[in-house]
Amino acid sequence: MIKEQIESLRRELEQHNYNYYVLSAPTITDFEFDARLRQLQELEAAHPEFFDPNSPTQRVGSDSVSGFKQVSHVYPMLSLGNTYSEGEVQDFYERVRKGLNEDFELVCELKYDGTSISLTYEDGVLVRAVTRGDGDKGDDVTTNVKTIRSIPLRLHGDYPASFEIRGEILMPWSVFDELNREREEQEEPLFVNPRNAASGTLKLQNSKVVASRKLDAYLYYVLGENLPSDLHSGNLAAAHSWGFKISEAIKICKSLSEVTEFINYWDIERKNLPVATDGIVLKVNSIPQQRALGYTAKSPRWAIAYKFQAEKALTRLNSVSYQVGRTGAVTPVANLDPVQLSGTTVKRASLHNADIIEGLDLHIGDMVFVEKGGEIIPKITAVDKDARFMIGDKVKFIKNCPECGTALVRFEGEAAHYCPNENACPPQIKGKMEHFVSRKAMNIDGLGSETINLLYQNSLLHNIADIYALKIPDLSRLERLGTKSAYNIQAGCEKSKEVPFERVVFALGIRFVGETIAKKLAYAFKTIEALEQATFDELVAVAEIGERIAQSVVLYFNDPLNIETVNRLKSVGLQMSLSEEKLQAHGTALSGLSIVISGTFSHHSRDEYKAMIERNGGKNVGSVSSKTSFILAGENMGPEKLKKAESLGVKLVDEDTFLEMVKAEPLSDEDGE
Ligand code: IVH
Repeated sequence: MIKEQIESLRRELEQHNYNYYVLSAPTITDFEFDARLRQLQELEAAHPEFFDPNSPTQRVGSDSVSGFKQVSHVYPMLSLGNTYSEGEVQDFYERVRKGLNEDFELVCELKYDGTSISLTYEDGVLVRAVTRGDGDKGDDVTTNVKTIRSIPLRLHGDYPASFEIRGEILMPWSVFDELNREREEQEEPLFVNPRNAASGTLKLQNSKVVASRKLDAYLYYVLGENLPSDLHSGNLAAAHSWGFKISEAIKICKSLSEVTEFINYWDIERKNLPVATDGIVLKVNSIPQQRALGYTAKSPRWAIAYKFQAEKALTRLNSVSYQVGRTGAVTPVANLDPVQLSGTTVKRASLHNADIIEGLDLHIGDMVFVEKGGEIIPKITAVDKDARFMIGDKVKFIKNCPECGTALVRFEGEAAHYCPNENACPPQIKGKMEHFVSRKAMNIDGLGSETINLLYQNSLLHNIADIYALKIPDLSRLERLGTKSAYNIQAGCEKSKEVPFERVVFALGIRFVGETIAKKLAYAFKTIEALEQATFDELVAVAEIGERIAQSVVLYFNDPLNIETVNRLKSVGLQMSLSEEKLQAHGTALSGLSIVISGTFSHHSRDEYKAMIERNGGKNVGSVSSKTSFILAGENMGPEKLKKAESLGVKLVDEDTFLEMVKAEPLSDEDGE
């Protein structure tokens, strides 16, 4: 049904494109065309399985078309058969022995738990990086992959003229932990494990953000016509000499007992590695022998993966509690009988959201399996239903805030429940104040969460602006505070008046406005007044500001209480506009110009162009009007914009001309991530 609908829309739109572009005789209005196109985009987004690189949605420069180019793999990217026990490894060994009927070596490697990538080099230069996709074709993510420092862009030594090399892109634990810490601070959904974080990062549109995520890569498989060695291990050694990062955890084994030794050693030792691994890969070393063994439909007969057991434990679910965060997000937490799991005692596990609870069919008193897989926070993976002799109450997600009693809400498309009582729910008020004084925000010394709690209990603080109204005598009267701390707090408040505007925007604690977004907003709007008045359309026109953020900013400034808070902060002397130097530091090549971006580009992404416009003093606008200075026009510009531009006499500027205009280091960015 859906498939037919998508296909019929595609045919219809193609016909209209033809009528418009070839025949110059459109039969529908641009408005109708755009409406149908949007309908198709929505259907395609909801049904990625019907993706077609030739769909009309793929040619227009619409903002919602993300999309990487799809590329066919020269050699399909197969997966490996999985084994979970020594017995199965032995079976594999026997199969290979029988299949070859001669001596053979197995190369043991670690199975890195990231996202696989295929790199093509021609004349020693990286020309293409493609994800696995469905195994036959994947996404061309070359621009993003080029940001990964351990992947050489140019090789040295004696490399073949043309070859492919495959490996795994990984997010190191340390980067993963830091990223999740930041996301937690912003109350953004956490990445479940480094694998998801790595593949999510690789699919980002902005390669600068990718660069900031510090991905790493190990390569483990060389393919091509003229490889230097007949041995897999020989090719890896050669690849190492050309400049690739090849794992040192490799062993050539001549017997099953050597394989077992490798497995047992790394099952323990892998916990000390900087990246996640989930098993061992065994490969027949000789390439002629690999060829002799061949492939099944899905995987090679000459290789297999052995997966490490996820560590799990069985324990009792005693209760579920609910935590309310700074933005009102409610997180369910399972309270468990303490149990030992990979060296630590586990008492609590996150249940994430209502859907997870429902999916597990949890009842109080259930015996549950807790696992620490590639995740940091233990999770409940299953209920041992056989152990249910007396069934307890079914766990039902709460309907009201556990802190203030307000009915919870759930936004469309989001898994989390929120308490909407932003300005009167205690943990939200306190959370907002803690955020406001935190190091990356106003950095007010002397005001930790305990002090905030104390001041809140004593009715001295209700709102972030109250912080500046605190009086020394009131403070020093409090039992646990004293005069010295009171003076400290006051000095901290005074100092915070120098904190730059972009951090003040961050400190306000607008939902979804993290450090980076706050900076973007500050640079785009320059003063708090301009930000207060910004419309949804003006906000989404800014590079990297999506609809979710724009809506949240509009909502924030629509609330008179927030406006009052901001006014109070303004009156005590906080920085409410971008400093002169920062205004100056920005380029001026496009100063005062309103620019519309349309079409697709070959040198940079749309978001990079949007950022360039802002960095050079220009303003991004969404639709063409008589006030538009020019259109930065790529390939396949939308027909409506083109027509409007012509009728209003708005100039089109192509990509190369534009780059000339902003010649002074278009991508240098002092506020990079
Ligand atoms: S070799 C034809 N070696 O595990 C053999 N794969 O299901 C190609 N992986 O898709 C794979 N570490 O993403 C190989 N040392 C390693 C690996 C490895 C991780 C991943 C890879 C592959 C999956 C197997």
